[in-house]
Amino acid sequence: MSLMARIGFAPRARTTPARYVQTRAVGRPAPRNSPLDRLWRWIVRAVYQRPAMSAFAHDIISAPLPVAVGTEIINICNADCSFCGYGKGEDGKGGDPRVKQKLNPEVFTHALKLFDAAGGGVFTLSPILGEVSVHPRWLDMVREARSFPNIKGVSCFTNGILLDRFGSDNILKSGLTNISFSTSLTGREAYNRLYGVDKYDTVVNNLFDLLETNKRLGRPVHITVLLRIDKPFAKFFASDIYERLCSLMNTRDIEILDDAWDGYKGLIKQEALPIGHKFKDNYPDKSVPCYAMFRKLEIMLDGTIQACACRIEPELWGGNILDHKTLHEAWRDPGLERLRNDWFEGKLQDCCKTCEHYIPYTNLLRPTEPKRVARHALGRVKRAVLGSTRQPIQF
Ligand SMILES: C[S@@+](CC[C@H](N)C(=O)[O-])C[C@H]1O[C@@H](n2cnc3c(N)ncnc32)[C@H](O)[C@@H]1O
Ligand code: SF4
Ligand code: SF4
Repeated sequence: MSLMARIGFAPRARTTPARYVQTRAVGRPAPRNSPLDRLWRWIVRAVYQRPAMSAFAHDIISAPLPVAVGTEIINICNADCSFCGYGKGEDGKGGDPRVKQKLNPEVFTHALKLFDAAGGGVFTLSPILGEVSVHPRWLDMVREARSFPNIKGVSCFTNGILLDRFGSDNILKSGLTNISFSTSLTGREAYNRLYGVDKYDTVVNNLFDLLETNKRLGRPVHITVLLRIDKPFAKFFASDIYERLCSLMNTRDIEILDDAWDGYKGLIKQEALPIGHKFKDNYPDKSVPCYAMFRKLEIMLDGTIQACACRIEPELWGGNILDHKTLHEAWRDPGLERLRNDWFEGKLQDCCKTCEHYIPYTNLLRPTEPKRVARHALGRVKRAVLGSTRQPIQF
């Protein structure tokens, strides 16, 4: 352990506690188009280099395209996390009532075509409940996505257990641009208790092999490590494994989920959480529609479009991507529009009433707060001067 760590000055990873902000708009917002509004919208878009970025609440609800697009890949997992909705409830189907299956390849190709034709960006290839690396064709699918000229990246979450089956070089050269590696790094006992499988050594080896290979290759992939660990965190910050992690990555890319746990409709019990953690509270006032309905086009294994990427909720199912000819048409799918409009009229689905993931959609405007716009502009200037090639985080 380094001297700095011994005396309590080790750099700190970020923790992600539940954060709420006041809702800013109740009811359907009016369009904003005064000359000043148009100027502000132009500034925001120029600073973030996102030509369709929303600057006002009405921009969000009338956006022609989603902020993010992705498909599930598989609904099978090789772990059995105590804190996750996977495999819980009656017959193990409380969190996902569907049969176990892989993504329909026709759905995948069609989704990629629509995304590419609409301008593309970073495509998310991740399960809602499942593990990406359980799909034997995972990297072939990444390569297929990257064969489209406008698809500039692919992101995914992984528990890392099976990465040695693919090999770090192959993973990092596949065309993936963002990997969120969720795991627990405080020893075998805690890992087995939380992840439900005896794979601690494998995961630690896979993680460090991935990070070292990424460093050797010049960091083609932005890797974030998402930690699910017991409290107090000080023990982890003082550990050799944390020091080793910090030697290979920026501490800003290490995040610890802190008291922001989803209870998955009561499927998860308090004792299943890492020691010392709490569930996220159910938001007290849900009069404003949820952000999830306005952010990402979530395409499920059979092509069903779901109005939310957080859970598997049949109440939130709309039409099928295969029935749409453009991304815009899919984003404005009548089933999704009905769910959004119902919420504006005060009729939210039962699954949303109890969901701890809820955040008012107006929170999507947080990056447009003047201080954040200024900070982002400054960051861009700094990167231009220092010549940083760091990949943006996109999920
Ligand atoms: C459901 S997993 C699917 C992808 C992959 N199997 C993994 O674990 O990264 C997506 C993310 O949700 C996190 N997660 C699981 N259960 C959670 C819960 N009850 N509350 C908050 N996050 C949770 C996981 O740790 C993971 O980072
Ligand atoms: S958190 Fe991920 S790895 Fe753990 S059971 Fe859920 S889907 Fe599987
Ligand atoms: S309240 Fe929960 S289930 Fe409903 S849209 Fe928001 S995140 Fe999804």
